[in-house]
Amino acid sequence: MGQRPWRLLLLPGDGIGPEVLAAVRPVLERVSWELESRSGRRIDVQEAFIGGAAVDRYGTPLPEETLRQARSADAVLLGAVGGPAWDRLEPERRPESGLLSLRRALGVYANLRPARMLPGAHSPLRADVTGRFDVLLVRELTGGLYFGEPRRRWVGQDGRRAALDTMAYDEEEIRRVALVAFAAARKRRGRVTSVDKANVLACSRLWREVVTEVAAEYRDVSLDHQLVDSTTVHLVQHPEDYDVLLTENLFGDILSDLLGGIVGQFGALASASLGAAGPGLFEPVHGSAPDLAGQDVAIPAGAILSFALACRYAFGAPDLGQFLAESVDDVLLEDAGLGTRAFGERTAQRFRARSQVALT
Ligand code: IPM
Ligand code: MG
Repeated sequence: MGQRPWRLLLLPGDGIGPEVLAAVRPVLERVSWELESRSGRRIDVQEAFIGGAAVDRYGTPLPEETLRQARSADAVLLGAVGGPAWDRLEPERRPESGLLSLRRALGVYANLRPARMLPGAHSPLRADVTGRFDVLLVRELTGGLYFGEPRRRWVGQDGRRAALDTMAYDEEEIRRVALVAFAAARKRRGRVTSVDKANVLACSRLWREVVTEVAAEYRDVSLDHQLVDSTTVHLVQHPEDYDVLLTENLFGDILSDLLGGIVGQFGALASASLGAAGPGLFEPVHGSAPDLAGQDVAIPAGAILSFALACRYAFGAPDLGQFLAESVDDVLLEDAGLGTRAFGERTAQRFRARSQVALT
């Protein structure tokens, strides 16, 4: 008797989102085949609406039905959300708010964003430093300025416009994401750099305290604290110095784009967002790139590598995730100027070849 299939929910979203997820399909089918032949569990795929596409259809960026399907999945793979068509909507109906609500509803507080040099990528930095660049950014994803209350906008009695956002963290929110960073560092090069603005922000001082306490439980992992502004300089000058970067939500958003700039292949960055229980959320770091949409030119590497992370963290198949990452490298090395769809098909072929060699 076979076990129930794994459940994967695809949320294509907006802009290039649908294309890059379509390019994952051939890869997904091949991985599903491998999983089924080794453990009797194939991957069952469903698809739902999020972001602007959901606004157009249902009037809301995160429909109830999408959330219900996400909650009952083992993994959610998202394309991208947002675009100029929805820029003028009120904040809670914007596509981005659908993504933020989904992250929060799934409780995926730890966002893992690995960045390494990929074949064929052209970093604006010196090759001798980027050649050794291999960083894992661990970003707190469900707290801080993105979700803090109160938040509002108003017009004062003097007629001036004003706005308020709140940054708030409690120690448990910090502790649980720090634990993820230290556990990851233990399996890597054993170094955590915690990023904050402790010379100015109360939240950062608490962050520093709690991270230092967690470090005491990981004697084999070294910990440095670095201010976020000086981290940006050091990342550009000596990116090879870092192993695991641990940050709060907004700093992590900014630094992960910087990592994309350093590797010079922003479209190839992937991410996994994990919580204490329930499905992980996997998404490329890139945005919806409306100017590229519908032209079959977007590189789907970030989406495919996000699916590779799902293999590792959701489907219990880290080896298949690894073959997949290597297959993406193969295709990037060929540098054949493939379109989005052909890139996915070629990756599936490479994956098939690699997994056959390794598994026979
Ligand atoms: C990211 C994106 C999102 C974020 C946006 C689309 C809300 O920039 O995943 O980095 O700010 O978290
Ligand atoms: Mg971002």
